[in-house]
Amino acid sequence: MIDVRVLKKLCPTYSFLHLDTIDSTNEYLKSRLDLFEKTIVIAEGQTQGKGRNGRSFYSPKGCGIYMSLLIKPQNDPNTIFDLTGIAALSALKAIQTVYGITPSIKWLNDLMVQDQKIAGILCESLFFGNQMKAMILGIGINVHSFKKPLDIASIAASIEDFVSIKKPRSILIAKFLHSFDDYLAAPDKALEDYRKHLAYVNQKVYIHQQGQTLSGIVRGIDDHFHLLIENSQGQSESLVSAEISIRP
Ligand code: BTN
Repeated sequence: MIDVRVLKKLCPTYSFLHLDTIDSTNEYLKSRLDLFEKTIVIAEGQTQGKGRNGRSFYSPKGCGIYMSLLIKPQNDPNTIFDLTGIAALSALKAIQTVYGITPSIKWLNDLMVQDQKIAGILCESLFFGNQMKAMILGIGINVHSFKKPLDIASIAASIEDFVSIKKPRSILIAKFLHSFDDYLAAPDKALEDYRKHLAYVNQKVYIHQQGQTLSGIVRGIDDHFHLLIENSQGQSESLVSAEISIRP
């Protein structure tokens, strides 16, 4: 079990709600917008963990960090892109500090070790008419090794598949939140560090966008975390809503 007393002590500016198994911490928060800003819902397991682009996030009980942070946008000028990029980088820093391994960031939101995904971020916004009411930042990190279902066996992994260090998940969450706060206060540093860890720079990738697949060379990110690609005509393009892969 994640020790929430440790979290309350190490991260006093956040509120924590610790649940057993629920469908999805993002979905839970959508129905609890009455909660205070900076409330974090943590579940021990999720039955319908969600990933980006309609995918699922396998969340076996006790094996990972499945949590969502409630952000009220009137207090936070960041966009979904900024928050997703900063959260991915903060998860990377937490893993690096606690376990001594350095994942790379597969734009925009996936942390990879040896080409296998160990963590992902899903930031969602909720509107009331034209007005954004809340942003929900979901973080999923595979920590302890687990038996993987066939469909993700070759693409997903856990931190403990690569290191033998055992640490409480509460420590990883606390490190994540400290990095997240530091990077929100220093956005230029966040961009600089994100660029250092971006995967596939100067490599050819496949770009999947609106049912089409194109190819291009990754050149970096712009100051809004949009991906900079050199297309097949040698022109520079910035990508917002696309997914990249190294295989077609
Ligand atoms: C992705 O892989 O595309 C993003 C994965 C995000 C998973 C986290 S786990 C906590 C939160 N609740 C969810 O249902 N999804 C996010």
